[in-house]
Amino acid sequence: MLAYLDHHATTPCDPAVVAAMAPWWNDHFGNPSSRLHRPSLEAAAALELARSRVAAAVGGRAEGVIFTSGATEAANLALKGVAEAAEERRERRRGLVTLATEHRAVLDPLAWLARRGFPLTVLPVQPDGLVDLEQLAAAVGPDTLLVSVMAANNEIGVLQPLAAIGALCRDRGALFHCDGAQAVGHIPLAMEELGIDLLGISGHKLYGPKGVGALVRRPGVALAAQQHGGGQEGGLRAGTVPVPLVVGLGAALELALADREARAERLGALRDQLWEALEALGGMTLNGHPSARLAHNLNVGVGGVDGTRLHQLLRRHLAVSSGSACSQGSPSHVLAALGRSRQEAAASIRFGLGRATQAAEVTAAIAAVDGAVAELRRTP
Ligand SMILES: Cc1ncc(COP(=O)(O)O)c(C=O)c1O
Repeated sequence: MLAYLDHHATTPCDPAVVAAMAPWWNDHFGNPSSRLHRPSLEAAAALELARSRVAAAVGGRAEGVIFTSGATEAANLALKGVAEAAEERRERRRGLVTLATEHRAVLDPLAWLARRGFPLTVLPVQPDGLVDLEQLAAAVGPDTLLVSVMAANNEIGVLQPLAAIGALCRDRGALFHCDGAQAVGHIPLAMEELGIDLLGISGHKLYGPKGVGALVRRPGVALAAQQHGGGQEGGLRAGTVPVPLVVGLGAALELALADREARAERLGALRDQLWEALEALGGMTLNGHPSARLAHNLNVGVGGVDGTRLHQLLRRHLAVSSGSACSQGSPSHVLAALGRSRQEAAASIRFGLGRATQAAEVTAAIAAVDGAVAELRRTP
């Protein structure tokens, strides 16, 4: 059995979500933008229902929901869209502030904007991965246009203090963009209460389909479209909306809200068992804050072993992630920001438990790490 413990990379689409999507592929296949006949009107109604479900799930307004292909597109639209709108209005505020531990979907568009004359400040984080609020307060000033801080980190699961960041932004007149890809559906998140102006969501991180997500915008936040064409999504994201996918996103969010608390409690207990057993093996370091983190996340540095060999051994039994971006083999910028060396980052394991995870998978993970570490420590 291969134990799948990589739910931060992606989650399976829940069978109930697949069922909710089913009629919208070919029974009801109308284009929601046509609006001249029944098939189109049915699709438009399904689209609007999904929109209100997304808004309700994050404490936003339905009219603020812009469906996208995922959280990467949502972040690009939010960041480039805000910057372009500010430029069009010749605003004095142009500064952008973010954290070193953000996802590339945020860091890369921000770097792109920096090359086009938007001053960018990338703040370090504390050794536990949390933002230093004093440092943030010092970085956000009268020239700051936008602050981008994610809700939950995709590697170390750390939960940033969103309410404090939102209050700080509001105080200083800066917009607050939050990448919610790993948080929405997993922790309570009410964007208006938290002072979030723009929130990104990804369907495949919350047991929904791949290829769909949303940017939820607080009404009134100026945004310039980044994709032009048929004027869909209030002119902010042209292109025919994929009705089955947005129906799936709405259904996934409803499901996620229904079992969120029980799921977090159950997975938190399994995660704690996993950590206690791994810690007992010796030489293990917890990457990230011990309690301000997603209940289903654990990121562990394994001391005294070679990361490449560790992951070669683990991959026979476990689907987990390493502390390096596999495609490039480069060390994780998140673990580097916590002060981990290249070797320490490579010998780190990210576990992401999920809705279907049972004690058997956790036992398998403990046995796999135990076996691999024993072998590597025997033959260094
Ligand atoms: C924190 C975070 N932001 C953004 C993304 C990108 O999401 P998507 O795959 O929906 O584009 C991911 C996915 O890895 C993520 O974990």
